[in-house]
Amino acid sequence: MSLRFQYLCIIFGHILCAVNCCVSLQINSQPVPFLAYPCDEDLLKSAVNKVEELLSLKLERYNLHMQGELMAMKEQFLHEIKEIKKNQESVPPATKKPSSCTEAMRQENGKYAESGVYELHLPEFLQQPFNFYCLRDPNGGEPWTIIQRRQSNDTDFYRDWVEYEHGFGDLNANFFLGLDKIHALTHSRSHELWFQLEDFQNEKRFAKYDNFTIGNAQNKYELIALGQYSGTAGDSFSYHSGSKFSTKDSDNDKSSGNCAVYSKGAWWYKNCYDSNLNGLYLGGEYPKSQEGRGVEWSHWRGVFYSLKYVHMAIRPKYYH
Ligand SMILES: *[C@@H]1O[C@H](CO)[C@@H](O)[C@H](O)[C@H]1NC(C)=O
Ligand SMILES: *[C@@H]1O[C@H](CO)[C@@H](O)[C@H](O)[C@H]1NC(C)=O
Repeated sequence: MSLRFQYLCIIFGHILCAVNCCVSLQINSQPVPFLAYPCDEDLLKSAVNKVEELLSLKLERYNLHMQGELMAMKEQFLHEIKEIKKNQESVPPATKKPSSCTEAMRQENGKYAESGVYELHLPEFLQQPFNFYCLRDPNGGEPWTIIQRRQSNDTDFYRDWVEYEHGFGDLNANFFLGLDKIHALTHSRSHELWFQLEDFQNEKRFAKYDNFTIGNAQNKYELIALGQYSGTAGDSFSYHSGSKFSTKDSDNDKSSGNCAVYSKGAWWYKNCYDSNLNGLYLGGEYPKSQEGRGVEWSHWRGVFYSLKYVHMAIRPKYYH
């Protein structure tokens, strides 16, 4: 007789003994120690019931135990999910920053916040968030990002390549955002470009282009596309389409000389200018000897007039 069977018998024997019906069992005339046997049918039935009862009790306890285990596992699981969520929230704040003026200025009530300086994160480009000037649209449309502004003579714009590449000035006054950032904003999607101009008689004009894109550093931030002109100032920018950017120390224009030096600015010069908005802040009319050197938009006030206020602003273009 196998040892295993003996053990089973012993266990059942004990259970049956508990209902007072123990008979010792003999196998091959040898008494099997501790082995019990039921005496009659009624007692056998009640013994079986007892066994069932005990088993179901055990099962219940087992179930309770398992339920407990499951609850504990669930708790642990929820806790881990919470931890993961917490970790996600504590990833560098940079990735949570808005990536456009529209995102930065949009409020819960659907309106846009005040114009001003906002920190944006352009994930494909800048590791760190960077400050931009976001401007409300005067007609209630989507906000604009200002990329260049002239409003006084406080900032020198006759600067070299590195400064035009990375930007300079004061975002709340006169500044150039930087060709690297303008490229980052415009290269992946189509943008509108808005020139706002004002003369010293406080007359305001504008020029808009519906598909503005510039290239990267390798192709000298070429004015790749401009799209259709519309506006009141005349079109003094389409002439520059397809031109690379030039500064006094990086001559990429089509003239034999250096337009940036000649015009005392930095621009997408072709055979020099039709517009020269990074020129000298000469404050209105200036002499013929300075031709084209002012903050100049030739199709409106001509090449001997330096404007009082200009800005260039962009926003993503949506085609409906
Ligand atoms: C905008 O210009 C880009 C670059 O030339 C061009 O690929 C794209 O088709 C233009 N989009 C529209 C709507 O004209
Ligand atoms: C602006 O500043 C430059 C350099 O300081 C100066 O030559 C020019 O006359 C100034 N323009 C005005 C309008 O004051």
